[in-house]
Amino acid sequence: MEPFITKKCLTNKNRLEIELSIMKRLHHISTRFICENNFQDLLAEIVEAAVIITNANMGNIQIYDERSSSLQIVAHSGFKKPFLDFFSTVHTGQAACGAAMKLKERVIIEDITQSPIFINTPSLDVMLDAGAWAVQSTPLYSRQGRLVGMLSTHYHTPSRPNDQDLQLLDVLARQSADIIERVQIETRIAHIDRLNLIGEMAASLGHEVRNPMTTVRGYLQLFQKKDEFKAFKSQLDTMVEELDRANLIISEFLSLAKNKVVELKYDNLNNTIYTLYPLLQAEAFRLGHDFQMDLNEIPLINYDDREIRQLIHNLVRNGIEAMKTRGTLKIKTYIEDEKVVLSIQDTGTGIAKDIQESIGIPFRTTKDNGIGIGLSVCYRIAQRHEAELDFVTGSNGTKFFIRFKNKQLA
Ligand SMILES: Nc1ncnc2c1ncn2[C@@H]1O[C@H](COP(=O)(O)OP(=O)(O)OP(=O)(O)O)[C@@H](O)[C@H]1O
Ligand SMILES: [Mg+2]
Repeated sequence: MEPFITKKCLTNKNRLEIELSIMKRLHHISTRFICENNFQDLLAEIVEAAVIITNANMGNIQIYDERSSSLQIVAHSGFKKPFLDFFSTVHTGQAACGAAMKLKERVIIEDITQSPIFINTPSLDVMLDAGAWAVQSTPLYSRQGRLVGMLSTHYHTPSRPNDQDLQLLDVLARQSADIIERVQIETRIAHIDRLNLIGEMAASLGHEVRNPMTTVRGYLQLFQKKDEFKAFKSQLDTMVEELDRANLIISEFLSLAKNKVVELKYDNLNNTIYTLYPLLQAEAFRLGHDFQMDLNEIPLINYDDREIRQLIHNLVRNGIEAMKTRGTLKIKTYIEDEKVVLSIQDTGTGIAKDIQESIGIPFRTTKDNGIGIGLSVCYRIAQRHEAELDFVTGSNGTKFFIRFKNKQLA
């Protein structure tokens, strides 16, 4: 005999089936991540899962960009260009995701036309034009409590997800945050590995090449003094000069060596910049550019003065060289997120796309007279100081940031 099924049983049964299928989906997401590692497809799959779980019509996932303190859409389902353009970068407080970022918790808006977060803001029309009348935004936090992204879903009509849906969404959010964090760590490790390899190469290759060069230079100097080679004096002089230039390049390359010793001392970074100021300003003025310095109060940090001078010099020189017409070079120091930050900004052409992708690898240059080693040296110096070096670049210029850890502030 057929068992008697009440309406409640049926809904429970349906619910269980739905939950089972969602669980399978979540499981699929984690195994796919382990096996295939295709980040972009996985992000799209996470959005799909979020839309299904919350019974929504559309959705998107944003990744938090620490450099600009903003959320950026990296995958979506069901949105068109005007919405994606408008919300491509969201800062704290703006729209539901910005509110969730500010409040550090999930924000649910059942009807955006009634919500103070949207009323009288440009976001309202953009949302309504996209058919999004209701929205939930769930922040994604790493296990250390660092914001890594935001998972939002949207509805065509005023509505809200129920508590069971939200519990499942939380499982997905945990998984998504782990995935994003792991990819971010892997990217960082790959960069460090690349730098270490270069460092080892630098140390061994530099020494090997230098020794024979010293012998050649010695003989050339000997010949310079001999009467029988007088006719070749200018050629011999050029040969010595060229060898010296090659030696200089090798010295720079050697400074990439992993085991180079740094002499760390507690000092104020502003002092180092003040002493470099006349030199940097003269260099900028010589090429017709403006030079600005904005040094704010910062605590002492542990650094090698000589190395940081070299880093500043390399970055300033790159900035000046990138400004093809009259521009401004700006050096700033300040505190952000308990770190001492030094930024060097130019109004130049921006870093070419292919260089951006291989940043830190030596001998990549777009300049006729460039060696392509300045930035590699900077990355290595930052690494030796346990500092982070990153940049934002675009057609209006480039800004490099060096973020030093600070024991006093931490
Ligand atoms: N501020 C910047 N603006 C635009 N492009 C930049 C900037 N800094 C670096 N680049 C790009 O990165 C490349 C590598 O820079 P890097 O300093 O390593 O070498 P380089 O300047 O070419 O030569 P050098 O070894 O003499 O410094 C440059 O050739 C340039 O294309
Ligand atoms: Mg350079």
